[in-house]
Amino acid sequence: MKINNRRYIGNKSRLLSFIYNPIKKLGYDNSNSFFDVFSGTGIVASYFAEKGYKTIVNDSLFSNMIAYKAFLGKGKIDEKKMFCLLKQYNDIDPLSLPENYFSKIYSGKYFSINDSKKIGFIRDDIENKKKILSAREYCYLITSLMYATDKIANTVGHFESFLTTPPVDKGVKLDSLDINTNIIPTKIYNEDANVIAKKIKCDIAYIDPPYNARQYINFYHVLENLARWNKPTEFDGNSMKFKRDELKSGYCRRNSALLLFEDLIMSLNARLIVVSYSNTYNAKSTSSNNTLFPDEILSILKKRGRVFIKEKKYKTFNAGKTDLSGHKEFLYICEVGK
Ligand SMILES: C[S@@+](CC[C@H](N)C(=O)[O-])C[C@H]1O[C@@H](n2cnc3c(N)ncnc32)[C@H](O)[C@@H]1O
Repeated sequence: MKINNRRYIGNKSRLLSFIYNPIKKLGYDNSNSFFDVFSGTGIVASYFAEKGYKTIVNDSLFSNMIAYKAFLGKGKIDEKKMFCLLKQYNDIDPLSLPENYFSKIYSGKYFSINDSKKIGFIRDDIENKKKILSAREYCYLITSLMYATDKIANTVGHFESFLTTPPVDKGVKLDSLDINTNIIPTKIYNEDANVIAKKIKCDIAYIDPPYNARQYINFYHVLENLARWNKPTEFDGNSMKFKRDELKSGYCRRNSALLLFEDLIMSLNARLIVVSYSNTYNAKSTSSNNTLFPDEILSILKKRGRVFIKEKKYKTFNAGKTDLSGHKEFLYICEVGK
């Protein structure tokens, strides 16, 4: 299983060469460092790491950081031990399990009772085994469980809500992770973008913030809860979102996105700033409306240096009803100080 084998809104898996080619063309080869400030799945940094760049990743979601540590981090992984544990987990018969934290919250909504009992049991077991696992193995097992959980969820692809049809048993199957041991281990952060940007020096900074009012923590709250495993007991509404105000992003609010973006761009200590942007502001649903506009991005970037723009027609992964025909993907490239 690869780092991008998950359903993640706005992931750039199919735009990697669109991002890489102009950077390489400007002469930024793999002797440079690449900082992916809003890493999401981590696929962009992973692509650059495979090409030999020194990479740095960051995201405000803890669950994403766990996956980065597993796929891109440093530390030992005993493949044989992982294989045995995954097999043990896959062989568990959920009918033999009692109810647990996970099944009590999410069964009948996002998962069947059997699947949710198995997910909750495995997550408890990983926690109990923490002492006999290396830090990276611990992240490995949680990541495998998160990706397996994502695959069988009774949703359109994210956890904003569940489908009205009741969930059926799909079977929880944990896969081993495809880890490239030849890459330089990535530096991994789980901080606010505007805070971390002031601490990191890099050659290339890649910026792919949320584009609209839809909060990533609302999309992935179930996986975030599974990764954190501090078992909150208070939830909002029928969709069972745990209390998460501190995890909401200012980039998803029109009244703060612009100020945050400007502060971020002005604080980056990079030679090249590359910003991804898509034109979903034309979308019909208000929550899909963009919080930043092209002219704003351009005028802020121009304060740091010479800017040129690349564009490409692109059909994005969109789980909702919004019609995104005519969707375009843009790349703003700013040569700082020029
Ligand atoms: C558009 S997605 C990035 C997708 C990524 N480029 C990929 O290919 O998977 C934006 C990401 O920014 C994260 N995020 C939102 N606000 C943030 C903030 N203030 N600081 C750090 N990360 C943030 C979200 O959790 C989300 O994963």
